[in-house]
This record gives sequence, structure tokens and C-alpha cells, in this order.
Amino acid sequence: MLVNLSLAVKRLGLVSVAVLSLMSGLAQAHGDVVPQSVDTSTLPQLGEKWRDSNPFSTGDAHAEALRIGTSAYNQNCARCHGLEAISGGMSPDLRKVDSDCMGMADEAAKNSCFKEIDEYFLATVRRGRVRDGRVYMPHFEGILSQEAIWSIRTYIETRREE
Ligand code: HEC
Repeated sequence: MLVNLSLAVKRLGLVSVAVLSLMSGLAQAHGDVVPQSVDTSTLPQLGEKWRDSNPFSTGDAHAEALRIGTSAYNQNCARCHGLEAISGGMSPDLRKVDSDCMGMADEAAKNSCFKEIDEYFLATVRRGRVRDGRVYMPHFEGILSQEAIWSIRTYIETRREE
């Protein structure tokens, strides 16, 4: 009986190891996942011109942008940048993207710092990152709408850490 029990425990242990390695395999799979289009029809439409700061950061559309951005992040970014924006180390940890601004005591300076990061974020997501012909991050212009990209930014804002 005791022997059976310890065998059962061992088996369970093996199963959970298998599940864990499957999960980390999924999280690390880069490159070959088709980007998902995102339905943003419930958000205010922003038009052709790209904004230079996140229009959904505050205001009436914030909650809906956060809902859409959370799912759009999981579908398009999490495979590299990690679930809940916690990087496994392969790609930058997006919780830190605003960290230079976080400690600023002056509210106006802090907001203009966030605005600069908005521009940096938008440029990075639109163009992706290619160096010496290697695609480190795919571009999302033409795949994600402006509304979708700012929704993802809205989600990242809720994950900020210093
Ligand atoms: C195929 C993997 C991959 C995917 C998918 C991906 N990224 Fe990236 N991303 C990277 C890598 C790698 C870098 C760092 C590139 C470099 O070294 O220049 C990066 C850099 C960034 C940066 C700059 C971070 C910093 O600290 O400077 C931002 C912002 C970013 N990604 C946002 C996103 C968002 C938002 C998405 C989803 C819409 C996304 N990424 C999808 C791999 C990816």
C-alpha cells in the first residue's frame, strides 16, 4: 500500500513536470505564430492619423481599451514578452518600459515622460525590430489597428513596475 502510494506520487510528479515543460515550450515558441486581428469596433475610432500619446490612458474608453488590450496582448505579444508581461528573459520585460518615469515626483514631468514612452512604444510596435537582417520582433503596422496598439499600451500601463 505504501509502495503503491509513493508510486502514485511519483507518477503525479512526472505528469506535472511534463505539463510544465509543455507550458514553457509554448511560452518560448517564437516566430511562427500568425498574428491575431483584434476587434476594436467598441472603441472610439481614431482615424488615419497616428496619435503621439495614448488616447485611452484615461477617460471613458479606458475600461474597454483595457479589456481589448489584455486579450490582444495575450494573442500577439505574450509568446515573446511573457504572460502578464512577465518576461522569461528572451525579450524585454514590458513592466519596466516606464520605469524611468515611475520615480518622478513632479506630476507634469512624469506625464511628459510617459508621453515619450508612448511614442517609443508606438514606433517599436509599428516597425518591429530588425537588425542586420534579423527579425527580433515582427512589425505590427498593417496587422494591428491604431486602436488595438493603444489598447495594448493601456494594458501595459496597468502592469507598470519601477
Ligand atoms: C517574436 C517575438 C516578439 C513578439 C511577438 C513581440 N515582441 Fe516586442 N520585442 C521582442 C524583442 C526580442 C525585443 C528587443 C529587440 C531588440 O533587441 O532590439 C522587443 C522589444 C519591444 C519593445 C521595446 C522594449 C524596450 O524595453 O526597449 C516594446 C515596447 C515591445 N517589444 C512591445 C511589443 C508588443 C506590444 C508586442 C505585441 C503587439 C510585441 N512586442 C511582440 C520580441 C517580440
